[in-house]
Amino acid sequence: MACFSVSNILFDKPSFIILVLLNLMTKSSANIEQQLSLCLEEIAKRHVDPASTILISYGGIGPTTVCNRTTAETSQKMLPCSATGIWEPIFISLHNADNWNMMVIALEDVDMTNVLIHRKYAMYILVSEHQQLDAVVNNLVQQVTKLKTSFDWNPRAKFVVILTEVNIVGENASRDISENIFTELWKFKIVNVIIILKARHTIDMTRGGKFHEALFDIFTWFPYHPPGRCAEDKSGILIERWIGDGSSLGHFLNNTHLFPPKIPKDLHGCPLLVSIFEYQPLVSVKKYTSNPRRVLYDEGIEVKLLEVLTRFTNMTIAFKEPPADGWLWGFQLPNGSWTGVSGEIIRSESDIAMDNYWYRCHLINEIECLTPHLSDEVRWYVPCAQPYPRWTSLTRVFKGSLWLGFLAAFIFFSFVMWYVVKLSYVVASPEVQNQNYVGITKCFLNFWAIILEESANDTPHILSIRSIFLAWVIYCWAVNTIYQTFLTSFLVDPGLQHQLSSEEEILTSDVRLGIPPTVVSVLPGLGHKKYRRNRANCDDVTVCQDRMAFKGDLALLFSKYHLDYVIAAKYIDGNGNPLACKFDEVYCIQFVTFPVPKGMVMLHLFNGIIQHVKEAGLLSQWWKSIQYITTLKAALGIEEIDSEYIVLAVEHLQSAFYFLFLGYGFCLLTFIGELMRKSKNLKKICCNRRSKTKTDKN
Ligand SMILES: *[C@@H]1O[C@H](CO)[C@@H](O)[C@H](O)[C@H]1NC(C)=O
Ligand SMILES: *[C@@H]1O[C@H](CO)[C@@H](O)[C@H](O)[C@H]1NC(C)=O
Ligand SMILES: *[C@@H]1O[C@H](CO)[C@@H](O)[C@H](O)[C@H]1NC(C)=O
Repeated sequence: MACFSVSNILFDKPSFIILVLLNLMTKSSANIEQQLSLCLEEIAKRHVDPASTILISYGGIGPTTVCNRTTAETSQKMLPCSATGIWEPIFISLHNADNWNMMVIALEDVDMTNVLIHRKYAMYILVSEHQQLDAVVNNLVQQVTKLKTSFDWNPRAKFVVILTEVNIVGENASRDISENIFTELWKFKIVNVIIILKARHTIDMTRGGKFHEALFDIFTWFPYHPPGRCAEDKSGILIERWIGDGSSLGHFLNNTHLFPPKIPKDLHGCPLLVSIFEYQPLVSVKKYTSNPRRVLYDEGIEVKLLEVLTRFTNMTIAFKEPPADGWLWGFQLPNGSWTGVSGEIIRSESDIAMDNYWYRCHLINEIECLTPHLSDEVRWYVPCAQPYPRWTSLTRVFKGSLWLGFLAAFIFFSFVMWYVVKLSYVVASPEVQNQNYVGITKCFLNFWAIILEESANDTPHILSIRSIFLAWVIYCWAVNTIYQTFLTSFLVDPGLQHQLSSEEEILTSDVRLGIPPTVVSVLPGLGHKKYRRNRANCDDVTVCQDRMAFKGDLALLFSKYHLDYVIAAKYIDGNGNPLACKFDEVYCIQFVTFPVPKGMVMLHLFNGIIQHVKEAGLLSQWWKSIQYITTLKAALGIEEIDSEYIVLAVEHLQSAFYFLFLGYGFCLLTFIGELMRKSKNLKKICCNRRSKTKTDKN
């Protein structure tokens, strides 16, 4: 007989299902084991769908080894060696039924995270061979803790706990044992569980000449029965007995359903513990009730949805204080534990969490998500573009190149004019000659007058000069018209500077990137180095929002629902314009859900209600009404502006005034310069005179 450790097999073939294929047809000597196998087979036949998987978790005493024994029929079996005696007949009978996939796991040092069957187990059979109650409970907790680490863990499966070795002493021993075990399993949200104990009174009954013997007592419990109980009392009730008839046959006493539905539709005011924090517009306005002092939230889409869920199940809501660690949704710490409401759900400290929780149940094994009720968009929000400064209005009408072209045309035409005048006056008679166009300075000044739409004095009479003059007039007329048209609109509304309008631009510009860590925990793609290059610390989202809106040097990647709401409610200037903007590009779409601890018993009930609420369109209606109310509230603080007419103020004509003052300043400087020169000249003249008089005297 060769023995080896179970873990070896599992590690060698990590994702391989250990199918225990037993073909051994030996007759067990012990009647009790044969009866147990009959009983299990009967349970499996009644309560496990064909072709589903049954997991047998074996918590033996001492290190478990697996025996590899080749049988006469040549197929192998792998069993805990110490257990072969008990388990042989059971496996044989289960295997002979040939209906289910069987998997045996002995839990010492087996890494369940590597054991994947990629679908839910239908039944778990937990076996403990210990005899003392404490040891049994410990052993079962260890088994379940281990099983729970698997991604295929299914606390809603049917659980059969076999404790045929445990000592049952005293009148109420069976009930005590079962109560202890139900209490522990409830912490793992396991409800569909029966415990098979050795019958305390193996009363012999002889009916109609036939021998009957009660062999096993089967216990279960009902967390919400009688109505009004909220799973505080975990005492078990004897639901069924297995009766052996003395030979190799046995049957249930009453043929009751061993796994009846245990979660009623009406929970009679049982509390639902909610992990929550204030987060508009989905959850808003944290309040306290007085006497007793309790947290209360009474607005927001998700609060309304929660109220519907609890009203239909007749539960009462118990809101928790925001997470004590100061985080909101939470993320995974390097040591593996989670913060925020995610952490509270993972540690089963509450029954449900909310606050625009993006679906991340594929990432966290310990939680489940209810049917998503909203779809949120993750988008970039950027500071809105600033308007151009008004003093630039005069010059901004044309681009620099156009201004240069205009200047070049002015100089060129002035020279042409001057030259043409010079040439034509050589041949023209003196009476048609107009002295206003002689000399380059006069040409410049005359053309300048035309640009400014002044009348030129004394138009020229000679055809060639006239045609150049006319060409310049037409050119200036066109340019001027365009300039004035644009100038008016620029004076009234100077327009906006460039608006960041794609992720590409954000990443290449020098604005800091605000990506809250909770977003990164859902979208690992954001860990890429292009997003890390210029990242600002956004642990506190509100601080980042303020910085984006008021300081304008940060782009924030966040939820559409929240930011659309906050921008409308908080980040608007005196004219009602938003301080933060978004663009069409959507980073990704996230489904919003309520996370619950894995196995939460109300899941299916809640899912059904959420489905109905969605189909009724209530969520969009709530969202619209919240938007409407917010808009009204925000409108209170905005002064009404008449959008049809704009009265021009000094502010609008800033640029004109600047140029005026610039011109005056220039004049003043020139004037002072002239004065100084003049006084120098005067001095010179005086000195000259004095020296003259001196010389005269001399
Ligand atoms: C079981 O034992 C047989 C021979 O005794 C051997 O051929 C076979 O490889 C063993 N199985 C395992 C899984 O080691
Ligand atoms: C809801 O529960 C209360 C007990 O908390 C009970 O009196 C009431 O009848 C229940 N409502 C419904 C509709 O069942
Ligand atoms: C992980 O670290 C945090 C603090 O950094 C601590 O509070 C928590 O207990 C740690 N968790 C584990 C499982 O070590």
